[in-house]
Amino acid sequence: MKLNTYKTEKEVLEKLAEYFATVAQQAITTKGMFSVALSGGSSPKKLYELLASEYAKKIDWRKVYFFFGDERYVPHSDPNSNYLMAKTALFDPLRISESQIFPVDTSVEPRVAAQKYAETIQQFFKGEEARFDLVLLGLGDNSHTASLFPYTAVLNDKEPSVKEVFLEDQKMYRITINAPLISNAHHIAFLVYGEGKAEAVHHVIEDKTDINNYPAQLIKPVGGEVQWFLDNAAASNLTQQSI
Ligand code: 6PG
Repeated sequence: MKLNTYKTEKEVLEKLAEYFATVAQQAITTKGMFSVALSGGSSPKKLYELLASEYAKKIDWRKVYFFFGDERYVPHSDPNSNYLMAKTALFDPLRISESQIFPVDTSVEPRVAAQKYAETIQQFFKGEEARFDLVLLGLGDNSHTASLFPYTAVLNDKEPSVKEVFLEDQKMYRITINAPLISNAHHIAFLVYGEGKAEAVHHVIEDKTDINNYPAQLIKPVGGEVQWFLDNAAASNLTQQSI
């Protein structure tokens, strides 16, 4: 695990954009393509806008294939849709072809949506083990990542897959790739900034193992690497040894 901490949110975003470009170029050079699972929520929007502007000419976007680490179970036109956020911030400005984008189909029942997405991923990887080149992740202030929420059944998965998760408090479903599928990625990058995440960052990185309370602790790369991109505010509860 590599921790990258920077003074400001702006620096965090710039460094993660650089990292994204490096990993993308490596994959495109060696394999002729780059597969990335995008994270949702509010933190990554500015990263996507930065990639779509400063990096528009620095990456061969025709070779990039976009998946979603998780999706809210809402129509793609819903303001809460991770797909809509990425479409607005990244896909439309870069004129990404629909053939390179794999949204979660939220027009079917949650369980079917999860099964269909698992099949979509399997087809993309042509039945080989699904290993994304990069999985981008955020961190909730309750230590969830993707839609791996505290005390949900998906936390017990042992095999890579995609599952539906019902959030009691929000009375809504999410569709998420599970921890084994995330951990199979060649590169995993957490983007976390702001004081409000400092406690969760400490729990996940330094606290005792407690998967139900700190689900992001499940993310342990199998043969790949995990890097954290943090501002000082989000890293402020870490002891010196970790930094
Ligand atoms: C989502 C995300 C989720 C997110 C965290 C942090 O769909 O909401 O995938 O895991 O990364 O909840 O969200 P913020 O960046 O909005 O704080």
